Amino acid sequence: MTALSFSPPDIREEDIAAVSDVLRSGWITTGPVARRFEDLLAEMSGTPDAVAMASATAAMEASLRVLGVGPGDEVIVPAYTYTATASVVHHVGARAVIVDTPGATPHLGPDEVAAALTERTKAVIAVDLAGIPAAYDVITEVLEAHTGRFHAEAPTQDALGRVALVADAAHSVGARAAAGSVGSLADLTCYSFHAVKNLATAEGGAVTWRAASDLGMSDDDLYRAFRRDILHGQTKDALAKSKGGSWDYDIVELGHKANMTDIQAALGVSQMARLAELLERRRAVLRRYDELLADAPIELMDHFASGESAAHLALAFLPEPAEDRRGEIISGLAARGVPTNVHYKPLTLLTAYQRLGWRQEDTPAALAWYQREITLPLHTLLTDDDVDTVGTAVAEEVTRR
Ligand SMILES: Cc1ncc(COP(=O)(O)O)c(C=O)c1O
Repeated sequence: MTALSFSPPDIREEDIAAVSDVLRSGWITTGPVARRFEDLLAEMSGTPDAVAMASATAAMEASLRVLGVGPGDEVIVPAYTYTATASVVHHVGARAVIVDTPGATPHLGPDEVAAALTERTKAVIAVDLAGIPAAYDVITEVLEAHTGRFHAEAPTQDALGRVALVADAAHSVGARAAAGSVGSLADLTCYSFHAVKNLATAEGGAVTWRAASDLGMSDDDLYRAFRRDILHGQTKDALAKSKGGSWDYDIVELGHKANMTDIQAALGVSQMARLAELLERRRAVLRRYDELLADAPIELMDHFASGESAAHLALAFLPEPAEDRRGEIISGLAARGVPTNVHYKPLTLLTAYQRLGWRQEDTPAALAWYQREITLPLHTLLTDDDVDTVGTAVAEEVTRR
């Protein structure tokens, strides 16, 4: 059979038309389409506004800067995630405190956060692993209980009065928890629209906030603060400067460069119109995998326990840590044209974090999750037949090997 793809983008004629419109419009970088995408993101998230950016990585880094996180500070992150969750902490000069994930899922847990909090902790970044929102309500309770040991060193920290909670929502665009939509569950939420994500602008990200007043700012001020931070600290963007006679500007801080172009935003706006349909299809694929694997010795992560998962990744776990056997299963599936992947190598297993002193023994639970994990293809170009082919092949391979 022809090999299936692991996570191809779902690009339709309307997306191509939307991008072509921007290319013909005479304005291709950040402009009216990016603003429209931001409005749609805010609407989806139930938040006052959103700022579109170049990536989730850029959004998380900008979030830490807005929160005044820097040298001498600590930020708690889970071991079971992609490097971006933690590397951004070091990019702003702070230290990522990597905690283990021994709970019923490899999400960041409240007990591990409570144990890792110190007087230097300024933020926690929780990850909506696989599209399932993290436990923001209970983690927030832990942070509220810690206020006595929190030392505010920046105006936003002072206004918040506790350790900030940032959502790495790279996987969870469009998801909902019992308490509300992703985007409004943490103090700041960072989305990714990378090519493999549920809503793909090739590269892209965005930040939303629950309430700017919690950070002592108005929504307009917070919007402008993020925009300045990702546009050279400049008082006007290129579009504003291009209007006749409006050339003058100032640079009020040594800012960064991480804005989203209207070309990318056109893909975002276009796909947003069918996001609900895309997410429903993803959930249907997961439900079918659940049926096909019900009796097989492998357990799919539960996306249906509560709320509405964005069904981004089909993480599946073998009963026991078994890297050799997992390798055989992955090779066996590849030989049958079924692509799989592994999410995630814990941060403590990666060279860059080991150079910072971390050891895999620091996070035994994350290591065991990793050693048991195989990610199945989950995307909207899979036909019903493809899903059956994958589910049946996985059931056979994990039973046989
Ligand atoms: C959990 C997680 N966080 C952050 C990122 C980074 O997203 P981006 O590529 O948009 O910076 C990714 C990307 O795969 C991710 O999986």
